[in-house]
Amino acid sequence: MKIKNICCIGAGYVGGPTMSIIAQKNPDINVNVVDVNEDKIAAWNSKNLENLPVYEPGLSNVVKEARGRNLFFSTDINLQIHKAEMIFISVNTPTKTTGEGKGYAADLKFVEECAKQIALASKSDKIVVEKSTVPVRTSEKIKEILKLNNSDVDFQILSNPEFLAEGTAMRDLEIPDRVLIGGEMTNKGKKAIDLLVNIYSSWVPLENILTTNLWSSELSKLTANAFLAQRISSINSLSELCEETGADIEEVSKAIGMDSRIGNSFLKTSVGFGGSCFKKDILNLVYISRSFGLKKVADYWEQILIINKHQRDRFAKKITQCIYNNNLQKKVLMLGWAFKKNTNDTRESAAIYVANNLLKEDIKIDIYDPKVKEHQINFDLLCLNEKFDSTSVNFVNDPFLNIVNYNVITIMTEWDEFKSYDWDKVYRRIKKPAYIFDGRNILDFEKIKKLGFDYTGLGRK
Ligand code: NAD
Ligand code: UGA
Repeated sequence: MKIKNICCIGAGYVGGPTMSIIAQKNPDINVNVVDVNEDKIAAWNSKNLENLPVYEPGLSNVVKEARGRNLFFSTDINLQIHKAEMIFISVNTPTKTTGEGKGYAADLKFVEECAKQIALASKSDKIVVEKSTVPVRTSEKIKEILKLNNSDVDFQILSNPEFLAEGTAMRDLEIPDRVLIGGEMTNKGKKAIDLLVNIYSSWVPLENILTTNLWSSELSKLTANAFLAQRISSINSLSELCEETGADIEEVSKAIGMDSRIGNSFLKTSVGFGGSCFKKDILNLVYISRSFGLKKVADYWEQILIINKHQRDRFAKKITQCIYNNNLQKKVLMLGWAFKKNTNDTRESAAIYVANNLLKEDIKIDIYDPKVKEHQINFDLLCLNEKFDSTSVNFVNDPFLNIVNYNVITIMTEWDEFKSYDWDKVYRRIKKPAYIFDGRNILDFEKIKKLGFDYTGLGRK
């Protein structure tokens, strides 16, 4: 048997790009991506590829190649479930905001809804693939829901967590470090694993496709994110120590990263990690550990989040203190809103938290981001603080048009264009004294200081 029809429920940052690549690499398989959000599906189908709901370098070319050939986007969820032999669940799994585990546990209601819908719409055997990031043993729950709602067909559950990072998603999907597939160690389970391995093996070398049992696969995903985030909090905690001691965090980072046992990635200090997953996945890990009575384990992982918040707070505090101590006008120009470069995603971006702290001090903010729209910025601030006054922030299309009006610029996202600005020209026009707060350490601080700016980065003087 070979899979001929795939359905993916959830057309978001994971479902969209992942299925686009699967379709591109397997022209003989029909890939149908479905979502309840009609606007999102319309955007995936839009003729103008600039309007795709996800901005990701290289994505539009893949969509252009496969869409209409064997890649389709629709809202007809039941029909596509019915037609498919393999169904991916790629819906959001946010942190619970109410009920047991509130503030920590993953909210699986969307995953559970999908399982129920799959069960009710299925008239033949299906392989159900967990693509969403879920707590360990979720597949057990999915299986229960499937069986309870439909005992006539056989459902095999696989765990196939996604490791792509936004901004580099297409490269990560094209050349993944590994593809992880967990399944039941029964004959049927092993057959299901093989069918998914076949799909990936169209472009991923077999030695990079790792198969495990279900629980290992589920737990590995949470753990991988926790390890990555842990490195960032480790380096960020040291950036504060560098500021006290005169050591330079960029030099420390380089020195430790050159140890091949440590490696040099994820050692870049920042104003704090953002993104939709690190925080929620660590909270989830903390919750799971606590629910097994492992208090010390839970506290250990939670510390990563405590340092992350501390890093954002102390960055905002530096800006407010600078404004108060120097009696400056209460206004800043903020460059960058996305949680990292090359994405339009703003979920959990450090910029939201820093802006919120500045707004609490009645500081007005003009914001520029090359890929984020004004309504998103207002939405993000409103979600964090329902009393948010939208007249305190202003979205600007050209950050330097009114540069004469600012004393303070703060860099929140490491967009390449910020590095290549003509900072000399900016200095000549900006209001004096001129301060730069670089939340990403992207500027050459010696050069910037020579131009006349008062420069504050992280972990270096
Ligand atoms: P997203 O919010 O961008 O997309 C999820 C989509 O699912 C939304 O469009 C929503 O409308 C849809 N949806 C929700 N319930 C539905 C239902 N019952 N039927 C149909 N559609 C439904 O989320 P995302 O960033 O793509 O993340 C999805 C999962 O992948 C999460 O579990 C996340 O932790 C994980 N993940 C995300 C990333 C990332 O970089 N964003 C990377 C790896 C893993
Ligand atoms: C992260 C993981 O890297 C992916 O493997 C995983 O699939 C994904 O989460 C997920 O499960 O959602 P993502 O959040 O998209 O991907 O982006 P990252 O590159 O990991 O960056 C996360 C945050 O950490 C960003 O705000 C980034 O600026 C920050 N970061 C990253 C640092 O501050 N320093 C670094 O050295 C690296």
